Amino acid sequence: MRMPVFRGTKRWLTLVSCLLLSTILFAACGENSPSILNTAGPVAENESFLFWVVLYTSLFVFVGVEGALIYSIVRFRERPGMPNPRQLHGNTALEITWTVIPTAILLFVLVVTIRGLLQVAPEAEPTLAQGPKIEVTAIGHQWWWEFHYKEWNITTADSMHVPVGTTVHVNLFSNNVIHSFWVPALTGKTDLVPGHANAKWFVANKEGTYMGICAEYCGTQHANMRFDVVVDSQDAFKTWVSTQQQNAVTPAAGSLADQGMQEFKNACVSCHGIVGVDATAPANTAVDCVDSSPPNPNDTAKNCLIGPNLTHFGSRDLIAGGVLENNKAQCDPNDPQLLEHCNLAKWLNDPQGVKPGNDMAIGQLNHDQIKGLVAYLESLQ
Ligand code: CUA
Repeated sequence: MRMPVFRGTKRWLTLVSCLLLSTILFAACGENSPSILNTAGPVAENESFLFWVVLYTSLFVFVGVEGALIYSIVRFRERPGMPNPRQLHGNTALEITWTVIPTAILLFVLVVTIRGLLQVAPEAEPTLAQGPKIEVTAIGHQWWWEFHYKEWNITTADSMHVPVGTTVHVNLFSNNVIHSFWVPALTGKTDLVPGHANAKWFVANKEGTYMGICAEYCGTQHANMRFDVVVDSQDAFKTWVSTQQQNAVTPAAGSLADQGMQEFKNACVSCHGIVGVDATAPANTAVDCVDSSPPNPNDTAKNCLIGPNLTHFGSRDLIAGGVLENNKAQCDPNDPQLLEHCNLAKWLNDPQGVKPGNDMAIGQLNHDQIKGLVAYLESLQ
């Protein structure tokens, strides 16, 4: 007797559930979502190669097994008047076959995986990395990224600049909880473990801006712990370095930006540093407290600032771990609707509303204070 599987309401419910389930699939198709398949460098290429190998191997097994299953169901289905099939108990050849084939397939995947692991491991850097090399220290905070370039005494946040075609050696530190450094287009995930010095390397072959993500749950604002990797041409990177090495520009006396600088000196200096204002080069930031091996976040002899170094804030694309974009063009301090248009103003007006739980513990600033700070901070190119 045939069972009526789909009938009326049941059929519609099934269709609607399938449609709803498919939205999970399409949720991954956001225009801005970074992908491990959109690679821009050899380390990420190695990793995506591994993805394809495992995918095609699985596909081969799936099609083979399901094909045999469907064939058997159709070919050997029960027909009227058929005798019972021959009863078998054990078949050595068959059992050896279905042991040897999966073993060979898994061994193949294992060999390719180990080969891939060895190629992207920090130990592979001296042999596989080519061309010039730079070193960056990335520090995970709750919840933002600090980047320190020891060679040039630069400390920045949220945006990590690197030159194209260069091996980037990244030292990974945390003085709080475990974070994970991930730039899908450039390199896979490596954890930042408190009290432990980790490192990784990557090379970017294409200029552009690539999204970086914290890939380890690290507290309520884990999702708002993003950063940018800006891959510059060799020349543009040199220019960036020399700009970042400059002290912050001093605004003209009496200007709006000057008022902002005074505001900064009053309200912000206990946590933030601006080289030329309250910090000196080498920029004293949280990096002082972790840039030793093993890192020592309790070293009171060092001037450890809690918040990001803001020396060249105006040159950055993101605010506060990427919770907002630094939309400088919308930040005319004299705009009466500054709070609606300018993300920095939004942030200064209500940091806890924008990113609950962050360390910005300032009192409510008035409109004039915000105006001044916007004028000043956005002028710091
Ligand atoms: Cu840091 Cu998640």
